Formats: sequence, C-alpha cells, structure tokens
Amino acid sequence: MNKDTVMEPNAMQLPSERIVERSDLYSIKSSTVRTPDETPLPTRVKAREVSVFYGAKQALFDVSIDVPERAVTAFIGPSGCGKSTFLRCLNRMNDTIEGCRVTGRIELDGADVYDPQLDVVELRARVGMVFQKPNPFPKSIFENVAYGPRIHGLARNKTELEEIVVGSLKKASLFEEVKDRLHEPGTGLSGGQQQRLCIARAIAVSPEVILMDEPCSALDPIATAKIEELIDELRANYTIVIVTHSMQQAARVSQRTAFFHLGILVEEGPTETIFTGPREKRTQDYITGRFG
Ligand SMILES: Nc1ncnc2c1ncn2[C@@H]1O[C@H](COP(=O)(O)OP(=O)(O)OP(=O)(O)O)[C@@H](O)[C@H]1O
Ligand SMILES: [Mg+2]
Repeated sequence: MNKDTVMEPNAMQLPSERIVERSDLYSIKSSTVRTPDETPLPTRVKAREVSVFYGAKQALFDVSIDVPERAVTAFIGPSGCGKSTFLRCLNRMNDTIEGCRVTGRIELDGADVYDPQLDVVELRARVGMVFQKPNPFPKSIFENVAYGPRIHGLARNKTELEEIVVGSLKKASLFEEVKDRLHEPGTGLSGGQQQRLCIARAIAVSPEVILMDEPCSALDPIATAKIEELIDELRANYTIVIVTHSMQQAARVSQRTAFFHLGILVEEGPTETIFTGPREKRTQDYITGRFG
C-alpha cells in the first residue's frame, strides 16, 4: 500500500478498492489481460469539441476523443463528471432528455451522428447500450433477444430468428444456463444472468459499438468476473465503451482509458499509460484514490 495514500485522510474514507497503488493496478492488468495490440486500431467513433448543456447548465466542455474499433475504452472519473452524459451522446440517448442540448461533432465511421436525416432507431441498433441496472423486458428470455431483430426485420423466417436468438445468447455466454427455459420470463433470472441477457439483446441486432454504463455495479464479484470475461471476448468483434467506478475493472478490461473531471476530458490514452504514468496530476490523484 502506498504510504501517501494511507496517510491521506480523504482517501481513508473511500471504499477500499479505490485505495490501490498504481503499480498494483498494473499488475492486476498484466496478469489478466492479454497484451494490448501494439498497432493502432482504426477509429470507429470520433468526437470533436462536444459540449452538453442541461438547460442553462453546461455538463460537458469541448470533449474530443477517438474511440478505436475492436478495443475496450473505459471512461473513469468522479461522480457527476459527465461520463454518462458523454456516453449518451454517442447514440443520441440525450435526445430523449428534455432541455438537453449537444454541440460539436460526433462521427460513426465518418458519418455525422447528429445529421437530422439520420434514422435514430437505426443508429441505436448500430450503437447499442447496456445500463447499470439490468433491464430485461417483461417478456420471455427468447422474446427479449428476438425483439430487436424482429423490429429491424433481420430474420426472414422463424428458423433464422431462432438462429439469431441462440447465437446471441451463446455470444453473451448465457445459452448453456437458459437453454431449457427460453420461454420463461427474463426477469426470473439472477442479476448477472439478466445483465448477460441484456448484452445478448444488444448483440442480437449486430451492433458495431456497445456502450456500457457501469454494467457490473449491481452485480456480485462472480457475476462481475463473468461479464468482464465476456467483455474481453466481445472486443474481438465490437467497439466497446464502458463507464466504470472501479479502477481495477478499468485496468482489467480496457485497452484505453479516458479520465473525466468536472465535465472535462482531462486525459486519454492506453490504459497502462494512464495507470502507470499519466501526464496530469489530477489523473494520478484520482487513480490513487486521493479524491473521487
Ligand atoms: N437529466 C439531467 N438533467 C439535468 N442535469 C443532468 C441530467 N443528467 C445529468 N445531469 C448533470 O450533468 C452532470 C454530469 O452528470 P452525469 O450523469 O453525466 O455524470 P456521471 O459522471 O455519469 O456520474 P455518475 O458517476 O454519478 O454516474 C451532473 O452535474 C449532473 O447533475
Ligand atoms: Mg453515470
């Protein structure tokens, strides 16, 4: 344990998982995550000078970031710093919040996400979202996953629909646990299973990007480990952005980390750089638990 951290009165009041030395975080990462790709990955989502206002109050200030494909990008930072706000900009979920205004530019594969001509329903299929609290529909497990493909007309017949549902449940590492009760309610599953069901539901419409806002915060450590393992597998085929309050989780699952503070993107880069040699003192103070 870092001596400074132990002596810091504020840090003493933080949850113990915050009080971790940076070198500990790095060793967690090196022991559990495969070597990050050295070659730069192509950018999937590009944000430039994005600001967000809730009425007169500005919540985000000129955020610019490139999110690479086939990698996990973690958004970290203290409560209220704008992580969820920025995440919601990426698939225009902020459109649904009254009084919320977004300025700047966000591109998905080079196309303007805020183009008035753009079909927002289609955008949200391409950029799927998984929330903090698992939110299965009050329908069967099968219907939860079949819902998206059905409304987007992705299956030509019943057999194709079944293939999509089974394939998505398998990709979400849930199929084996639910194969005998596909027609029972999704809400009857455990919390961790419900979250994997929500991931299967997001995957079922073949998204390019999956946004996850604290997907493990309502889960126990075993369910959390399963979701983290799943995220690591999914990154081979998807662009993933995850908001997390757990430094360990960011270190374990992400290849890139972005640190937000007071509505500003303070610093972004390869996860190991952010955790072992950040440029900014604010980043270092946050990841060592000096505030949060
Ligand atoms: N619907 C809303 N209406 C008004 N203000 C909002 C709304 N949603 C968020 N805010 C404000 O915008 C700022 C950023 O909030 P946001 O939820 O993005 O933070 P966060 O980093 O996700 O926090 P947390 O870690 O607690 O989830 C906060 O000051 C918050 O109060
Ligand atoms: Mg949030």
